[in-house]
Amino acid sequence: MVVREAELSFDASAYGRYVADVYDETYAYLTPDSAVQVLAELAEGGPVCEFGIGTGRLALPLVERGLTVAGIEGSSDMVAGLRSKAGGDRIDVAVGDFTHTRVPGDFALVLLAFNTVFALPDQAAQVACFRNAAAHLRPGGRFVVEAWVPDPAAFRNGSALRPVRVAEDEVLLEAALLHPAEQRMTTTKVRLTAGGVHLLPANHRYAWPAELDLMAELAGLRREHRWAGWTRLPFGDDSREHVSVYRRADSA
Ligand SMILES: C[S@@+](CC[C@H](N)C(=O)[O-])C[C@H]1O[C@@H](n2cnc3c(N)ncnc32)[C@H](O)[C@@H]1O
Repeated sequence: MVVREAELSFDASAYGRYVADVYDETYAYLTPDSAVQVLAELAEGGPVCEFGIGTGRLALPLVERGLTVAGIEGSSDMVAGLRSKAGGDRIDVAVGDFTHTRVPGDFALVLLAFNTVFALPDQAAQVACFRNAAAHLRPGGRFVVEAWVPDPAAFRNGSALRPVRVAEDEVLLEAALLHPAEQRMTTTKVRLTAGGVHLLPANHRYAWPAELDLMAELAGLRREHRWAGWTRLPFGDDSREHVSVYRRADSA
């Protein structure tokens, strides 16, 4: 029997407190090239605002392509990581919660990548996030959401343990508990390297793509594209993740 431990906090700075110091090395295997290519095309010259900008994994390559990028980030530890990198000082970042924090500007594109929409605690917060994204967009602007597709069948008796990455010098596992009544998952990634063991906890309030589409409608956004990933392959029955592009409904 799996014991359901006390819930972790869902506050906007929680993730970074545990993860900031190992975030870049843990996710170095995610090459951002296809995402950056797609985002640069969708931004049509920018400017871009990234919600949950983190240490700049996507934002810095976008800046390198000549786009103006701003961000909202809940964790000052993650922002410190961004600032320590070349070009990190060229990005305006507001430290706050992207459900309501505003940065000045009318943006061509707002980005919410890497499942971060599920970092919010409940449906109301996710709807608020869509509304805040819409409020940052200029007419015709786009909101891009990258997220996994929920898969409760991957859980046995409410729990799952899966390898995320297995390499000669690193093993990354994810232990997860499912709370289906509230569409929530409690997860902790366990990273094993010669340097030791790191625990990377994250809570998720998950939602199927159709629910995200409704949140977009509530915010005055219409779906323009849904792909199975940054390669822009068609989204289908077997897709385990999606990149969804929403556009302000008042666009031409
Ligand atoms: C999975 S990381 C993704 C970082 C970056 N976008 C990337 O793709 O590498 C999620 C980021 O969102 C931030 N975050 C989570 N919830 C937030 C919230 N409610 N408001 C602002 N930032 C938040 C975390 O601190 C973290 O930096």
